[in-house]
Amino acid sequence: TENGLALTPPMGWNTWNRFGCHIDEKLIRQAVDAMVESGMKDAGYEYIVIDDCWQTARAEDGTILADPQRFPSGMRALGDYIHAHGLKFGIYSDAGKLTCAKRPGSRGHEYADARTYASWGVDYLKYDWCSTYEQNAKSSYETISDALRATGRPIVLSICEWGVNKPWLWGKAIGNLWRTTDDIYDHWEGIHDFEHGVMDILDRQVGLEAYAGPGHWNDPDMLEVGNGKMSDEEYRSHFSLWAMLAAPLMAGNDLAAMTPQARDILTNREVIAIDQDRLGIQASRAQKQGDLEVWARPLEGGGRAVVLLNRSEKAQPISVDWETLNLPRALRLRVRDLWQHHDLPAATGSYSADVAPHGVVMLRLAL
Ligand code: DGJ
Repeated sequence: TENGLALTPPMGWNTWNRFGCHIDEKLIRQAVDAMVESGMKDAGYEYIVIDDCWQTARAEDGTILADPQRFPSGMRALGDYIHAHGLKFGIYSDAGKLTCAKRPGSRGHEYADARTYASWGVDYLKYDWCSTYEQNAKSSYETISDALRATGRPIVLSICEWGVNKPWLWGKAIGNLWRTTDDIYDHWEGIHDFEHGVMDILDRQVGLEAYAGPGHWNDPDMLEVGNGKMSDEEYRSHFSLWAMLAAPLMAGNDLAAMTPQARDILTNREVIAIDQDRLGIQASRAQKQGDLEVWARPLEGGGRAVVLLNRSEKAQPISVDWETLNLPRALRLRVRDLWQHHDLPAATGSYSADVAPHGVVMLRLAL
């Protein structure tokens, strides 16, 4: 939108992937504390987003109410806690009458809800698409976008429409990010066609590159890093690819109980810097030979970020040619490995590396 927000992809944490409806104010405060203590905040994570299930009912006058059992101190106080730690406050609602977890949605209450959120100090709204039936997607999101603007408070709008009505075609003027698929699962590949693994989601981003840019991003859904069903190698690949896609980096794990490995992945500043590159150009799949892929994106200053991705079950070499990157073969480039954190010998024409099964080698090529 024209709200001037999310000039780089938003970063933060969201309750849903790990906790679903099992949320309360204590959990949120713990996440805030862990965000600061783990170094996540220093690495750039900012939004603390409370997803579905914080709301139970409306007051007689229609005002949306937080669950009094789970959020006894109220949302205003929680927002204050979040802000006092230098972080920002995100909340969730739905364009229909009910949310996906059958809590009250915002249909018919858009302006009042936006005013309520603003009075709580909300900085980010994720707006879901359950129970919308015959509603028009574009105009439903337009309504909440207008309502947020009318509050006068800068609020990032996350269009959570799952890609059903191709939001990349109309979302740019309305929200700051839009989901391109239905939900991600903590798997490499989906077990059913309705449970998408990281690789299924990745395949569905091909062709959407042109729609992303500063202030308006494709959202391939939140991170599963640290949720336990993938290997650390696979989580590194997941995180690297989301950074290549200029995806919002919304951690979805238990921050208060993460392994050092999960923390190291989520706080890899060299990888985060690729995600947050100012040009905001989403990577495209530059090369695919069966299970071996090359993803590349141009960076500020003329360099490139490159991911060599091995989707197979055995280690294999992958090579990238400068021509694939639209660079002259005669060019000598500096090469840095963003997971090993060291500079490799400069290369001319191409670069080749052995890549672990389900792994990546992530490089920054500089002129
Ligand atoms: C569907 C969304 O895609 C998820 O990210 C999550 O917000 C759930 N709804 C909550 O019910």
